[in-house]
Amino acid sequence: MGSIVALVDEAIAEQIEYYRARAGEYDEWWVRRGRYALPPELERQWFHDVAQAETALRDFAPTGRVLELACGTGLWTRHLVGHAQHVTAVDASPEVIEYNRERLAGARLNIEYIVADLFGWQPPPAAYDVVMFTYWLSHVPDDRLAEFWSGVRSALKPGGRVFVIDSAAGGVPADDRAAWPRLRRPAGARSSASWPTAANSWC
Ligand SMILES: C[S@@+](CC[C@H](N)C(=O)[O-])C[C@H]1O[C@@H](n2cnc3c(N)ncnc32)[C@H](O)[C@@H]1O
Repeated sequence: MGSIVALVDEAIAEQIEYYRARAGEYDEWWVRRGRYALPPELERQWFHDVAQAETALRDFAPTGRVLELACGTGLWTRHLVGHAQHVTAVDASPEVIEYNRERLAGARLNIEYIVADLFGWQPPPAAYDVVMFTYWLSHVPDDRLAEFWSGVRSALKPGGRVFVIDSAAGGVPADDRAAWPRLRRPAGARSSASWPTAANSWC
């Protein structure tokens, strides 16, 4: 039992290092540039899916005090502008937080950044109207899921809401897999085997 916990801890540490190292190229992947470019049909599908997800967030209207978990470079934080009164944006990578800070620098949004490993950090209880996480749930190992959801629940005020975007189940086009920098799934990490993100859940 102890060794499974150690393996999962190792996978979590590896995942953090992976995103720290890739902070500078994450957005390139998101906009499918350079080595992340897709063939035209897949590219159309990708941007169609992104637009749908963005519309879903706009319709959800993340108002009040918002906690964004694994905020990344701010690709979704930016959509909180015009809705949220205050945002707490948490990520384990100081590098991606720096990109997020730069992206949101001129925005009319009150943001507090926290660098923390979400598997150790505890949100303050009943403090948020909304908890949001995009492309994060698929990174939560199975044996940490219950604890993770319990943290989300305790962070929410009564009547609080959760907004989640992640990869859908389904196949990944072979061309897309070929462009992937890393296909190995860490021991203990959940695989989403999905489109649009990847053959594994790391993107
Ligand atoms: C796939 S990216 C998603 C980023 C952002 N939510 C988005 O949709 O653009 C996963 C993010 O999780 C962060 N992350 C990975 N492991 C983490 C951990 N244990 N605690 C906090 N953040 C973590 C990475 O630094 C990265 O920014």
